[in-house]
Amino acid sequence: MRHVPTVVTVVTFNATNAPCGVTIGSFASLSLDPPLVCFNIKKASDIHDEIIAADRYLIHVLRDDQAEVSDRFADPSRSRRDQLDGTHTEPGPHDIPTLSDFLVRFDCRRTQIHEGGDHSIILACVEGIDEGTPARPIVYHQRAYHAVGTQVADRNLTH
Ligand SMILES: Cc1cc2nc3c(=O)[nH]c(=O)nc-3n(C[C@H](O)[C@H](O)[C@H](O)COP(=O)(O)O)c2cc1C
Repeated sequence: MRHVPTVVTVVTFNATNAPCGVTIGSFASLSLDPPLVCFNIKKASDIHDEIIAADRYLIHVLRDDQAEVSDRFADPSRSRRDQLDGTHTEPGPHDIPTLSDFLVRFDCRRTQIHEGGDHSIILACVEGIDEGTPARPIVYHQRAYHAVGTQVADRNLTH
């Protein structure tokens, strides 16, 4: 799967005891009507039970200058407080911590959880969209972070 480039997002949510955030690359658009997105969470992950129990998520698509933020929220050795502390987050919609910077942020309500082997698939309805300052997205590919590169063609199809 290292050959498949993915978007990089940080998903924040309020768990029972404390707010949480986690780096998620499996984020995808699922449906336009209704506006659904989905992402996968490893069942063995410490936060699995809390994330599938949360009723809302803020999904932040990262910019190409945010590799450090991705690593911070993917590092299980950091405490949740350490991940969320400092200038990186502030109170956001529905009292969920939000990153101060992002390319675009989706304010989502959980709708369904599906089985997906050793992962759970979370479906969520998009109820708000906020665009950050214009920037290029960061992409994860071959176990490294990249900026989206040179455009190679226009899309000339009429549909
Ligand atoms: C670029 C990137 C994308 C990731 N995408 C996912 C993902 O889609 N689902 C997931 O469960 N973990 C994903 N992870 C791993 C989590 O961010 C995190 O490292 C992991 O859940 C740590 O907790 P654990 O040790 O309890 O599993 C990703 C990590 C990185 C760096």
